Amino acid sequence: MQVYEKLLLKNKAWAQETIQDDPNFFKNLSEVQTPEFLWIGCSDSRVPANQITGTIPGELFVHRNIANMVVHTDLNLLSVLEYAVVYLKVKHIIVCGHYGCGGVKAAMNTHSYGIINKWLRNIKDVYRFHRQELDAIEDKDARTNRLIELNVREQVMNLAKTSIIQRAWKEEQRPHLHGWVYGLDNGLIHPVFEMEAETHIDSLYEFDNL
Ligand code: CO
Repeated sequence: MQVYEKLLLKNKAWAQETIQDDPNFFKNLSEVQTPEFLWIGCSDSRVPANQITGTIPGELFVHRNIANMVVHTDLNLLSVLEYAVVYLKVKHIIVCGHYGCGGVKAAMNTHSYGIINKWLRNIKDVYRFHRQELDAIEDKDARTNRLIELNVREQVMNLAKTSIIQRAWKEEQRPHLHGWVYGLDNGLIHPVFEMEAETHIDSLYEFDNL
């Protein structure tokens, strides 16, 4: 058997088990999706959104990329965000990073990785904003993990700066934004930053003609 065929077999077994537990599970889900959460996480294979939050299909709308970034020129992220906020009307958006993130580690060195440099540059900017604090941390892993926390915080800020979020805050007082970091070594999520709907950020980012 080819390795990929194992995935198809496992899928069959999972579908059967799920139907045994709840015969209408797939029928109900196929008709409508009403997730309350948008999850923006890292592509890392060790951070599966549903599994680590004990959620089932239908509960999380998910976007994942290298180092859980919110980049304003990323049409993919913006489309997911608009769909989640305007049409699915999610109440919460979670940006979830993880300690030991390879993307963040790569951004901290001076090696050129090709086209990924352009993505990692966004993380390098976060380092530059907090260079004083980060340079003062002697332990390399501790410094990386602090940047991972600061990066999550910055990506939550990037969400808040979008007209999509600003409009939803003004008109519907949602969604609330959450910055979390997952521990690969203990499986626990550590909340690092919260931003309630309608939080005032720097007034330069607050549009007056929404
Ligand atoms: Co990662």
